Amino acid sequence: MCGIAGYLGTRSASPILLDCLKQLEYRGYDSAGVGLQLADGIQITRSVDRLSGLEAKLGRLNGQGSAARVGIGHTRWATHGRPSELNAHPQSSLDGKVVVVHNGIFENFLELRAELSAYGLSPISQTDTECFPLLVSMLMREGMDFGQAFAAAVRRMRGNYSVLCLHAEHPDRMLLARSGPTLGVGFGVGEYFVASDAAPLLPHTREVAFLEDGDVAELNLDGLTVLDRNAAVVERASVHIDWELGAVELNGYRHFMHKEIFEQPEALARTLEAHLDGDVVALGLSELEGSFRDLEHIAIVACGTSWHAGLVGKFLIEQLARVPVDVDYASEFRYRSPIVSNRTLALAITQSGETADTIAALRDAKQCGARTLAICNVVGAQIARLAEATLFTRAGPEIGVASTKAFTTELALLALLALHIGRVRGTMTAELGAELVRGLRALPAQIEHVHGLEDAIEQLAGARQATTNALYLGRGSLYPIALEGALKLKEISYIHAEGYPAGELEHGPMALIDPALQVVALMPRDEHRERTLSNLKQAAARGAKIVAFVSEGERGLDGVAEAILELPLTHPSLAPILYAVPLQLFAYHVARLRGCDVDRPRNLAKSVTVE
Ligand code: AGP
Repeated sequence: MCGIAGYLGTRSASPILLDCLKQLEYRGYDSAGVGLQLADGIQITRSVDRLSGLEAKLGRLNGQGSAARVGIGHTRWATHGRPSELNAHPQSSLDGKVVVVHNGIFENFLELRAELSAYGLSPISQTDTECFPLLVSMLMREGMDFGQAFAAAVRRMRGNYSVLCLHAEHPDRMLLARSGPTLGVGFGVGEYFVASDAAPLLPHTREVAFLEDGDVAELNLDGLTVLDRNAAVVERASVHIDWELGAVELNGYRHFMHKEIFEQPEALARTLEAHLDGDVVALGLSELEGSFRDLEHIAIVACGTSWHAGLVGKFLIEQLARVPVDVDYASEFRYRSPIVSNRTLALAITQSGETADTIAALRDAKQCGARTLAICNVVGAQIARLAEATLFTRAGPEIGVASTKAFTTELALLALLALHIGRVRGTMTAELGAELVRGLRALPAQIEHVHGLEDAIEQLAGARQATTNALYLGRGSLYPIALEGALKLKEISYIHAEGYPAGELEHGPMALIDPALQVVALMPRDEHRERTLSNLKQAAARGAKIVAFVSEGERGLDGVAEAILELPLTHPSLAPILYAVPLQLFAYHVARLRGCDVDRPRNLAKSVTVE
């Protein structure tokens, strides 16, 4: 989705903005641009190309822009108007004086276009964005100053958006507004950086203030001034971002997804470290603590991989805390009139914290009286402003579109949450709690062991890269991992894949079995083992080609599966975390061998900020 960058300081803005936009590339984009504040006006450069195209164009303008000390930049994911230079950002007023970059959608843009056209300021692009600079320009013609016109324009806009705005006659000022998508301001020494998330700011500063919804702000060399939705001056305290700098670089890996798969032991260890005090789960949920004992129901809302995490969460919470859990796609929850009360805990799971449907679903649940909690990976994200409390995974920035380390750390936090609520409600034994904590602590080393299987997994992938269909099977909490394995394969390799509970084979999918179908089975040593084994034997008897991931020492599938990979034995409730990893590696190598753009699969963006 779109990315915003801004710089105001004493250095040349152009290279800083380009670097910042490169760090936002992972969000997905189809065009890009920058606006540079120069002595004779704002120079706008746009390109429907990778950022290298924009860079080359800026260079071709023979460095004239290098004099600019203030500038804004943008990567655009087209929503209103096709990808083109005309529709790329920055968008400007007709006289080129008011220049804007924008994330999100102005829902009332059609009405504004009509009004502006009637005034003689007809938009020339197909974007919703262009209304904004045109409106600012109209309001200034009517007598407002730049700041007043910007604030008034913000008040006219409906929807979810964040904007940065420059004016050619106010070269030392940058105006900002947020009503939805994250906007962070990084504080350097005598210079300021703005971005849609914290990662691009890290090379410059770790002190970042996030605007709140409804804020209108001004940046100049004297600092940041923020007015809240009531036009009162407010302080937005900066937070210290402790992500490692190397986290947003490839560091020798070919792809971010590969790197992120290998970062999982560390990411998990960090997540556990932050939320465990010895044996005691320390989630710091003081806001919600009093509600856990009387909970009637937990409603999990999420999308994609985070939804799969929610399905595993249901197993963990119902097993340990004995609270009924519903897991909804956020996009469905919103439209099915779910039953929610003040004894419901609505739990949103989202890596980015910016997914539009997940945010809207949590907001709906809150309006119906539910208590609200979020699990999120990104500090400063929207969801954390909405939820009463947020548990942050410590995965570090996840750049690959395919979620990997965010998923396994979400699962670890769900296990800790289930343990904690179970302890508060007295629904599980102390022994089980201690056993699970030991199991969680063992996971980083066990995942390293799974990494050691990479060569074998790569070989498997090599032999199956021409597959056109795959069926992933698992039972119990391994069923969501079957879904997740299938999603990983389809999103990055474009192979059609489905996940099914193994027990459903005979209710339909068995008809698919033929030599062209690849079956991937998950069969840890748990209470389901015998039943899964029997399902797989039946599939093999009908000619299924099976690759199986099993517990160490498992012999039941010898002669049944054509390839068997053994994983360390873990507590059955934690097996989903471990079994996700070889499926990530399998999908990664299949996609790589097929020549796919692993980190930027076609048509997909990292965060989906529209419905
Ligand atoms: C995961 O590999 C996907 N790219 C996608 O399904 C993702 O999990 C989904 O869009 C939800 O994102 P979120 O966790 O940031 O809300």
